[in-house]
Amino acid sequence: MEAPLLDTFGRLHDNLRISVTDKCNIRCFYCMPEEGVKFMPKPEILSFEEMERFVRIAVRLGVRKIRLTGGEPLVRKDLPVLIRKIAAIEGIEDIALTTNAVLLAEQAEGLHDAGLRRLNIHLDTLDRERFRQITRRDDFERVMAGIDAAQRVGFQKLKINVVAVKNLIEPDIVPMARFGRERGIEIRYIEFMPLDSQGLWSRAGVLVQDRIIAMLEREIGPLDEIPDRDPRAPATEYAFRDGIGRVGFVSSVSHPFCLNCNRIRLTSDGKLRYCLFAIDETDVKGLLRDGSSDERIMEVIRETVRAKWIGHEINTAKFVPPPRPMYAIGG
Ligand code: 5AD
Ligand code: SF4
Repeated sequence: MEAPLLDTFGRLHDNLRISVTDKCNIRCFYCMPEEGVKFMPKPEILSFEEMERFVRIAVRLGVRKIRLTGGEPLVRKDLPVLIRKIAAIEGIEDIALTTNAVLLAEQAEGLHDAGLRRLNIHLDTLDRERFRQITRRDDFERVMAGIDAAQRVGFQKLKINVVAVKNLIEPDIVPMARFGRERGIEIRYIEFMPLDSQGLWSRAGVLVQDRIIAMLEREIGPLDEIPDRDPRAPATEYAFRDGIGRVGFVSSVSHPFCLNCNRIRLTSDGKLRYCLFAIDETDVKGLLRDGSSDERIMEVIRETVRAKWIGHEINTAKFVPPPRPMYAIGG
């Protein structure tokens, strides 16, 4: 048994996020520009075999949980094949996927059959026209069909991510929570983060957790924080006091949770990152392709974790956004 992956602040890393592609079929403004996005050339993208090998190595270092992200992961052909490979690795306890659900109606059953059980769907609004403004695509009905299909084939713990942008998303906050209550889906409000490719972010543009809670309590009813949650999970969760439904908050800006971080990230072009906001990244694709041993790759993973900083500095004047936008990192 190898020593666990500890950084210099004593944080244990057992959670790996893999971006399977940087491509996306919609264009959410807080992530991508409307036109002219340059995606990575195909030879740069890791194959499923390379990703599987990386996971096997990471599992030897104590990684237990995997989340697949993008870009939009469902645009990658045959994703269930990768899920089967990862699910078969001894030591993996949990596989989750984050998707915009545009292609989910067609793929939900195949994903469930492959062993996927946890799904986070990204949807900001229940209004077709507002969806079109935010995503610059007219796919609202497909997303709703995707959510229906996911529930039909048996995904139970669905979550929906709403990106909380001030002076924009206010009209959707309460309707999304009501929808979650009706459908048994946890709505997660994710504070707008400085990861957009056009530099639109500013601290003043974030709709913060406390404001959202106030809106929900005024319109729906009291919320109680759920006690004894996993301290390493990024979301703070609340239950409606009437017993119907939950909401969660990923408040990277107003309540940073870096001190409990247990995550490392592999980009689709094979770079290892110790933080969403990291400036430095470590190339592992080269090692996966030049005949390097598993032991060498293990050492590189250890070195990357050892170099991890204490946390992002979004709230300070020193903050420098990462050189890659969200779709090229994986959320
Ligand atoms: N700030 C916060 N969340 C974002 N996402 C994409 N871009 C941003 C941003 N700038 C979210 C999407 C997706 C998840 C991977 O990240 O909602 O669900
Ligand atoms: Fe695509 Fe997700 Fe970025 Fe939206 S946030 S453009 S769905 S990768």
